[in-house]
Amino acid sequence: MRVIIHPDPQSASIRAANWIAELVRRKPACVLGLATGSTPIATYRELARLHQEEGLDFSRVTTFNLDEYVGLPPTHPQSYRYFMDENLFREIDIPPQNTNVPDGRALDFERHCEAYERQIKAAGNIDLQLLGIGVDGHIAFNEPGSSLGSRTRIKTLAWQTVQDNARFFGSEADVPRMAITMGVGTILDSRQCLLLALGSSKADAIAATVEGPVTAQVTASALQLHRDVVVILDEGAASQLKRREYYVNVESVQRELENVRSANQKNNQGPVG
Ligand code: PGA
Repeated sequence: MRVIIHPDPQSASIRAANWIAELVRRKPACVLGLATGSTPIATYRELARLHQEEGLDFSRVTTFNLDEYVGLPPTHPQSYRYFMDENLFREIDIPPQNTNVPDGRALDFERHCEAYERQIKAAGNIDLQLLGIGVDGHIAFNEPGSSLGSRTRIKTLAWQTVQDNARFFGSEADVPRMAITMGVGTILDSRQCLLLALGSSKADAIAATVEGPVTAQVTASALQLHRDVVVILDEGAASQLKRREYYVNVESVQRELENVRSANQKNNQGPVG
């Protein structure tokens, strides 16, 4: 895992947005896996700005969201479809038919989940999956105990998650108890994963994910099995990492290398070997 630590949530979010934007520029017809929650909001705001002020083109991008609450219509302000329309899709030029969010009102959930998996494959698989993390270490709604090979399916929310999300619904009683979610296995099939975590409430979950054992009790720890994961953190989320100094050092070496590369390219001497 590549761990990138930023001093504050804003600069971490801008880094995440630039990471995504770079892919969109390099591969205009890319497939993005997207996440909801409070974490990616500033990242989406920056992507919208890059579109509106710098012409970042999303017209050929396809997206798949991680999850959706069971029972909520797309017009419900707490549905993830509504969240995505409000926070990103209506701010950029992505065609609505290119945006995919599981349908919380599907009649046959099993078939819907299988179809979602097929759609991801048919689109050529996810190039970059953006992820947040729960206080309990979940990715998407893969709560502790989820199989690390799981595919898109229905999950019952952990009590911790219901409590964490009550702030959006007004009360715990109003939080749906079930969600459709991509599985851990679905997420691991993405070509690259970008995990973004902000704030000290995520510090324990991040330490367990990056430095703990791989365990279904912390489903984000399965990312250790993936060959291309970038973790972008603010200082709060990084505060329980034991090897913080090493990650910072790796990044400064990486930056030096990038500087040498771009200087060489300018001088037309070709890339560094
Ligand atoms: P949050 O949720 O971004 O609202 O903290 C993250 C998650 O539960 O995956």
